[in-house]
Amino acid sequence: MKKSKRSLSLVASSSAAPSRKNASVLPDESRSPSSPRIAVAIMAAGKGTRLKSQLPKVLHEVGGRPLLEHVIRAAVRIAAAKDVYAIIGHEAERVRAAMEHTGVNFVLQAQQRGTGHALIVAREVLDAYDHVIVLSGDAPLITPETIGHLRNFHLEEQAAMTLLSAELEDPTGYGRVLRKRARSAEVQAIVEEKAASAAQRKIREINSGFYVFAVEQLYDNIEGLSTDNAHAEYYLTDMAQVLRKARRRVVAWKTENASEVLGGNTRAELADIDQQMRLAKCRQLMADGVTVFYPATCVIDSDVQIAPDTVIEPYVQLLGNTKIGTACRVRSYCVIRDTEIGDGVVLRPGCVMEWANIDDGAILGPYSHLRPGSEIGEGAHVGNFVETKKIKLGKGSKANHLTYLGDAEIGAGVNIGAGTITCNYDGIHKYKTVIEDGVFVGSDSTLVAPVRVGKGAYIAAASCITEDVPEDALALGRARQAVKEGWAREKRQKK
Ligand code: UD1
Ligand code: CA
Repeated sequence: MKKSKRSLSLVASSSAAPSRKNASVLPDESRSPSSPRIAVAIMAAGKGTRLKSQLPKVLHEVGGRPLLEHVIRAAVRIAAAKDVYAIIGHEAERVRAAMEHTGVNFVLQAQQRGTGHALIVAREVLDAYDHVIVLSGDAPLITPETIGHLRNFHLEEQAAMTLLSAELEDPTGYGRVLRKRARSAEVQAIVEEKAASAAQRKIREINSGFYVFAVEQLYDNIEGLSTDNAHAEYYLTDMAQVLRKARRRVVAWKTENASEVLGGNTRAELADIDQQMRLAKCRQLMADGVTVFYPATCVIDSDVQIAPDTVIEPYVQLLGNTKIGTACRVRSYCVIRDTEIGDGVVLRPGCVMEWANIDDGAILGPYSHLRPGSEIGEGAHVGNFVETKKIKLGKGSKANHLTYLGDAEIGAGVNIGAGTITCNYDGIHKYKTVIEDGVFVGSDSTLVAPVRVGKGAYIAAASCITEDVPEDALALGRARQAVKEGWAREKRQKK
């Protein structure tokens, strides 16, 4: 197909995710025997009570993808998928089914008795490692770079527990970090909002919910956790105090990128995170040479690729794995999912398309609806209120007005008149319509499939075509017109 010719390597890599250039965070396949064995555990078993939802919290989407999938994507940049464990519990099967494609492992926390309990149930699998990086499945903005820094700091400090902290304008709701002394890396304790004194609540350094533990020290002391707190849960945060009491080293590493640690506990927080991700995506696209007017109104998923000099107008949604070439114009109110678009394509306002393919220089809309399997050829035109499904429209062909084309193979240089319909369905089976190069289909024709119209043939307007039409023929499939001279005048005179 022509698509393969089109070089998508020209497409700027415009993922909002950080670049892969930072080698230090990439999985180290060539681990020497002495380097530590590191696992990643992602806590994802909670219900998310504050969302008031049937859907488990970690499956709520931001940036077009579930929260947990963002965290898994960051994790598998740090460790091989075989060393990543998602701890699931509430609606576990649903979460597992949604995340199975990532290739990570799952650990079941059948009863969710707190973040500390999540690590208690993961003991069996984590015992095989020297260190475990613990991530929160509801904090999707975390980057592999930051996780990598946290891990390195933990290893350098030879700590039993290292937590990622951040300074927030408004720390409400987060656990606060109590340092041993000002400017010391060492941590005394983490105090949850509900248990914090008025003075402690003024502390703006918060616990992000990301940690690294030395596995042996974690599990040698984890029995020190208790449920003596506001939620009667085992808090992983209490490990700071437990390990301190056991004279183990607990340190914090504070990130400068405080926005990376935001968690999505409420619908409002999810909306904030979504907006941040999408704005970051738009900024990245703009940096790569794409014009995005009024970015706050556009919904662009993070895997979307767009080549330079393409213009995205306000109120456009570009979803899934959509790829758009260079010098295109996507006008307002287009909603495009998993569609590949060539260079120099114009999408006029209000086009809706999914799983379609559009070749260079095509012009679509306003209000074209391309359903799955629509392949629009180079320089073709698809106009207003035209619906297509599973078709090939050849180079330079036109279907400009009010038409349904389904299960059809249409050659090059074909003109499809206004109101043409391919009758592809008899209520049970679907049948194919073939329209060869250079055919002219007059307006308001119905083509009852299976049917073939040969090269260069003409279909007279308003025909119902039920039989194949040979090359270069004229087909008329309509009643002959009758004219009754003077009929109307006589009718008026009779009144
Ligand atoms: C937690 C921290 C808090 C920190 C905040 C950062 C605790 C007690 N508190 O609070 O200090 O500031 O994160 O975002 O850890 N989960 C399980 N199993 C459970 C309970 C929770 O896997 O039994 C998972 C949840 O699905 C979630 C994560 O752990 O992904 C964090 O739990 P959540 O209830 O959101 O903790 P926070 O109240 O945000
Ligand atoms: Ca949370």
